[in-house]
Order: sequence, then structure tokens, then C-alpha cells
Amino acid sequence: SAPIVRPLTRLRALVRDWQSRGESIGVVPTMGALHEGHLSLVRAARASCDRVIVTLFVNPRQFNNAEDFARYPRTEHADAELLGPLGVDALFVPDADEVYPADHATTISVSGVTALLEGAHRPGHFDGVATVVTLLFNMTQPDRAFFGEKDWQQLQLVRRLARDLKLPVEIVPCPCVRAEDGLALSSRNQRLTAEGRVRAAALPRVLFQATARIEAGEPVAATLAAAQSELEVAGIGPVEYLELRDAETLGEPQPGRPARLLIAAWLDGVRLIDNLGVELH
Ligand code: PAJ
Repeated sequence: SAPIVRPLTRLRALVRDWQSRGESIGVVPTMGALHEGHLSLVRAARASCDRVIVTLFVNPRQFNNAEDFARYPRTEHADAELLGPLGVDALFVPDADEVYPADHATTISVSGVTALLEGAHRPGHFDGVATVVTLLFNMTQPDRAFFGEKDWQQLQLVRRLARDLKLPVEIVPCPCVRAEDGLALSSRNQRLTAEGRVRAAALPRVLFQATARIEAGEPVAATLAAAQSELEVAGIGPVEYLELRDAETLGEPQPGRPARLLIAAWLDGVRLIDNLGVELH
């Protein structure tokens, strides 16, 4: 089982010791309920850093929905067990009042990317993410930090944040891990009914098809409208957004630049997100 570390003073002592030996530190920020997607980030960190810290903190400030926060799975001991064989040096599990004492007054807000897509549908979400990621970086002092492409917009936000604040950390993107039927692994998938879990496979299937059609030169608007109705026929909906965007700025897609197709859709009261790269010619 990976060593659970709290409070921050204990983590700081470990970090100081590792730094004094010249060891590099990798961090994998998570909200727990770990699955293969998270573990792939941990393996990437293990492969390129001397020390690996996984953080587990269900960050209240990034939940724009109190029920979603209350229902978020909490499985600290199972998570520590899963990380045991991976050679994690510390599973840092700070208490909420250590991260946000009652008089905490600072919010980090990244403009631009924060207002679009996920940001538009989840008010306050990305301020919560930017704030906690900054805090977690300051607590863990990493040389490298690993983030999944599953949460594409979050990854772009964290890159912007690190550049703008000149944080001495390299942001390392890791590919999205999918189940055999294509569904992106997510802690929220546990909330699907057995029947909903089967239906959910339509989401990546339709997304892959739409990507192929756009890459083959079919018109974007018509392709996305058709994809949306296919999803609804397959029992997935409402679709909150299904949009082709510039992969980095998430603004209008530009010919010759990497683009990304991004989706958020509801299934059985569970909000699913996914995205794929698209080559525009
Ligand atoms: P969480 O949803 O637990 O995800 C932690 C990290 O695992 C994120 O970088 C996420 O993109 C990555 N991840 C999740 N599912 C993945 C998959 N199927 N394939 C690859 N990577 C995957 O994202 C958060 O937590 C929080 O917002 C956090 C960054 C910890 C800030 O609170």
C-alpha cells in the first residue's frame, strides 16, 4: 500500500529531504476513486521522476453542484492499495481545512479558456481547478506534473496557468485511457446503471465517426448535427455541447492548426465528457 501522508508539514519534510538529495519530483493530482486512467499517469511519472507524489483531494471549490460533490466516490484506502505496486513515494491526502482554512481568501482565475465549453456550463469550476492546482503545486513542489488528455480543457488551462505564473514545473500530457468499448474511463462511470453503461459506448463511437467524417472533408456543422441526433437516438442526451475547436485556445478551429472535437452529454443523470484530436486540411 502506498504511504498516506498528511498533514502538509509532513509532506514538506519529505519534499525538502528529496530536494536536498537532488531528486526530481513528479506529481499526479487526483480526486481519488482511482482507475487505469489515473494509474497510467502514475506510471508515466514513475518512469521519468525519482520521486512520485499522488495527491488525493476531492476539491469542493470545483464542484458547481452540491449533489455531485456529495456523491463523488471516496475510496482512500482502496486507492492506497492500488498505488502500492506502482512505487508511489507518497499519497498526499490533505484535509479540507488545511487546503482551505476558514479565512482563505485567494482565487486563481485563468481568463479565456475558462469561459468556454466546460466553463460556460459549470460556472466557477475552472476557478476551483486553477486555485487547487496552484495550491497543490505549491505544496508538492514538483519538477513535472502529469495530467490526462481525458480532461482536455483542464489540461489547456493548467498549461496556461503554469506559463502565465512562470511556475517552474513541466506539464506532461498523458493520453486518454478507454474501456474496451471505447468509453473514456472516469470515476463517474461507476454511477451508470448496468444498462446505461452499455448505452454509453455510443458516445465514443459517434465521436470517432464524426472525427473521421470531418477529416474526410465533410462539412463540420452538418456532421456535428448528424452526430448529435445519432447520440439522442442511442439514448444519450441531452448533449450539452459538441463542438470542433482549436486544440490549444479552444477558440475557432484554424486550418493547419491542431483541432479538437469536444463533447459533454448526460446519460442517466451522469455527465460524461470526451474529446478527440482532428486533423484539418
Ligand atoms: P480526476 O478527475 O481525479 O483526474 C485526475 C487526473 O487523471 C486528471 O489529470 C485527469 O485528466 C486524469 N484522468 C482521468 N481519467 C482519465 C483517463 N480515462 N485517461 C487518462 N487520464 C485520465 O481532474 C481532476 O481529478 C481534478 O480536476 C484535479 C486536477 C485533481 C484538480 O482537483
